[in-house]
Amino acid sequence: MAGAAQLRARNASFWEQAAPGWIRHAERQDEFGRPLGAAAIERLRAAPGERVLDVGCGCGGTTAELAAAVGPTGVAVGVDLSEAMVAAARHRFSQPRFLAGDIETMGAVPGAPFDAAYSRMTVMVLADPVAGLTTIAQSLRPGGRFAATVFRDAGTVPWLPAAVLGAAPHVGDLPPLPLGNEPGPFAFADPARIERLLTAAGFGTVVIEPRDVTLNPPDEPDAVAEWLIEIGPAGAAYREAAAPAQASARSGAARMLERFRTHGVGYRLPAGIWLVSAELGG
Ligand SMILES: C[S@@+](CC[C@H](N)C(=O)[O-])C[C@H]1O[C@@H](n2cnc3c(N)ncnc32)[C@H](O)[C@@H]1O
Repeated sequence: MAGAAQLRARNASFWEQAAPGWIRHAERQDEFGRPLGAAAIERLRAAPGERVLDVGCGCGGTTAELAAAVGPTGVAVGVDLSEAMVAAARHRFSQPRFLAGDIETMGAVPGAPFDAAYSRMTVMVLADPVAGLTTIAQSLRPGGRFAATVFRDAGTVPWLPAAVLGAAPHVGDLPPLPLGNEPGPFAFADPARIERLLTAAGFGTVVIEPRDVTLNPPDEPDAVAEWLIEIGPAGAAYREAAAPAQASARSGAARMLERFRTHGVGYRLPAGIWLVSAELGG
């Protein structure tokens, strides 16, 4: 297992290199990725006038959704490690505030205390999840709420490795494969571990529930393949590849994704997620 400093450096470099793909596909991610976080938005029940935090906000789509829920008398703040994604979020949405920073080392997020914190598909990629979750806890008021989603195990999200497998033979080196509990899409597969981490960060009333959702992008194999390659671990290598290799990577991924496709109708991409909610003791 790599040490904390090495994991943090690896995480920073991964997201710096991933950012252009996430920015390029921001609209697609908002539209077709919404089921990945909708359960946590519902669980959070952000109310008009509240102050809410979105951790790992990416290009800001979910922060904008939270801003709409809290309305003009509330405050929504999105935080992300990637300065490029934060810049894109600011460009895309005027109402929420967006901050670039590492949730693991911020102490408390400027704008704290918040009534509630939300996070879609981020806490499992943190190099030191207890440090990140502690910042979230320290940024909430007593009694503050936290709701997040993370992937369950890879078997419940088969299209994610499928897109990587299809693209990888056609592009250059990929980042190191996460081992064990190293940060990555499946690092929070074990609910007992999630509970331990949240408790260590100071949260109580931890509830972890399985949800099965489906992403329904349209029947556009080339575009869907490119989206899934570019937001995944092959994204940086794909962008560096020459155009013919990129085309081969897209068709390789599209072939692997074929089993999730109904011709003329679209894709049904299943995703097993944990809906994680917790509260800060009052
Ligand atoms: C899988 S993406 C999810 C983005 C967005 N929440 C979504 O669902 O579309 C993970 C995000 O977490 C951010 N991130 C990773 N480590 C972070 C850290 N230590 N502090 C803040 N953000 C971090 C990345 O830059 C990336 O935008």
